[in-house]
Amino acid sequence: MTRVSREKYYVTTPIYYPNAEPHVGSAFEVVGIDVLARWKRLAGYDVFFLTGTDEHAEKVSKVAKEAGVTPEHLVEEMAGKFQQVWRVLGISYDRFIRTEEEVHKRGVARFWRNVRDKGDIYLGTYEGLYCMPCESYWTATQAKAGVCPECGRTLQTLREPAYFFALSRYQEPLERLFRENPDFLLPDFRRHEMEENFLRAGLEDVCISRTTIHWGIAVPDDPKHVVYVWFDALLNYLTGVGYGTDEESFGKWWPADLHVVGKDIVRFHTLLWPAMLMSAGLPLPKRVFAHGFVQVLSDDEGAEGPVKMSKSLGNIVRPGDIIDKYGVDALRYFLMKEITYAGDGAYSERNLAVRYNNDLANDLGNLVLRTLSMIERYVGGRIPAGHAGAVVDWPDADKVLHAVAEEVAETVPALMEELNFSGALEAIWSLVRAANRYVEENRPWGLAKDPAERTRLGVVLYNLAESCRLLSIWLSPFIPSTTGKIRSQLALGEPGADFAREASWGGTKSGTMIRKGEPLFPRLDLPGCPPAGR
Ligand code: MSP
Repeated sequence: MTRVSREKYYVTTPIYYPNAEPHVGSAFEVVGIDVLARWKRLAGYDVFFLTGTDEHAEKVSKVAKEAGVTPEHLVEEMAGKFQQVWRVLGISYDRFIRTEEEVHKRGVARFWRNVRDKGDIYLGTYEGLYCMPCESYWTATQAKAGVCPECGRTLQTLREPAYFFALSRYQEPLERLFRENPDFLLPDFRRHEMEENFLRAGLEDVCISRTTIHWGIAVPDDPKHVVYVWFDALLNYLTGVGYGTDEESFGKWWPADLHVVGKDIVRFHTLLWPAMLMSAGLPLPKRVFAHGFVQVLSDDEGAEGPVKMSKSLGNIVRPGDIIDKYGVDALRYFLMKEITYAGDGAYSERNLAVRYNNDLANDLGNLVLRTLSMIERYVGGRIPAGHAGAVVDWPDADKVLHAVAEEVAETVPALMEELNFSGALEAIWSLVRAANRYVEENRPWGLAKDPAERTRLGVVLYNLAESCRLLSIWLSPFIPSTTGKIRSQLALGEPGADFAREASWGGTKSGTMIRKGEPLFPRLDLPGCPPAGR
């Protein structure tokens, strides 16, 4: 892979409504973005990774009211909770933005005035189905039979003065954006959905303020209104890197290289957001990637198939509970391996435990443990010399192992760039499996008994140490805490800046004294799971 020297890479997560704590679905999304950010850093990019909380949602003020606290108090506490869960998950973000921050509010005001002065914001009348006691508008689909989905009371049609953003003016530029930049929204089928379901039908102007809501950012020069939450929220991608407050930083990082979002919020990110930026005369993000949902099998008799994991469906699993039981890397590995990032997939603790035993304890953990134990036992803990000659002269078994390592270097970078994390892990595991086979075929314990095989034993152990070193590189975006342990056992520091060199065969230094540690993934006692191999 060609390394681009210190090119910048700005990647974002959506910002989360802090009315509920993060669940395994949120973890799936944010871990995927963390894997990508870590990969980009490894590949030599200067990365900025932004995440945060979307604090001005109406539901936030409702939850605060129910809890008898102010919305300010609730969002402060919940933002702390998100940060704490992100820490436990090992999320390597550079900045956590909160939309209650003064710098964000200032940026929103500046952007609003900009777009207003451009003539794309106008005062009109918003009409909708409103529930007086709940102080909420509902759409016709949400409010079946004209009653409030929350309290069951009859809704009334309400009109209020409101500001609108002239989205319809951007119909043609947005069609052009989709036509001329087929990679603007990935995967492809999501782009087709947007074109078919929204662009073809024709875009309507969007209401971007409310007078019936008081929790939010006041509209500049008309503070009876607050800015509607999506208009406020999307701007975090600008204010998070200094829009309106730090022009140097903003100039460096904007436009974003990638927004990763769930499939439910693609519309806001690929229609409203680019139109807002076009109106303000700012460059567009280079790409939006939509991922699928973590689902759970419903206990409901009548339910057809799995349903989305969400607080409102009452089926959430807390990442912290799983991490306490299995460790953070088991959860990170499971989510990235089991569920294709672009599609949906079911979460099940049983499947996680089985993968833990099979992939992490038996395959990876066992490989590292036996490699280091044999180096300790047979050659006094010092990594022996590897092959001196060219690959063509190596024995077949060594050529095969080397070829698998080369294949990983060939295929994994492209899979990572496509956010095909499960495919990348599958490819990396071919090296884990090949190295375990190499142990079985070369039987170092047999070589160790024969003084005539001293050199061969050394080469076999070198090749195994080298496989573990390469795995510590390729797996570091996925399971960084484990790869940190592998590297420290192999007496390696952080990977150096030259990725191409780090990731090619031969980086292990003969003569290095290793430090064998505890098993990386102690086996779980699971009924119905076969015991570990050798
Ligand atoms: N606040 C808005 C986003 C504003 S971005 C400018 C929002 N917040 S959210 O908290 O409802 O959702 C945040 C993200 O979590 C979304 O991308 C959503 O798709 C994702 N997920 C919520 N439940 C999920 C799963 N069960 N599985 C995967 N992702 C999930 O929307």
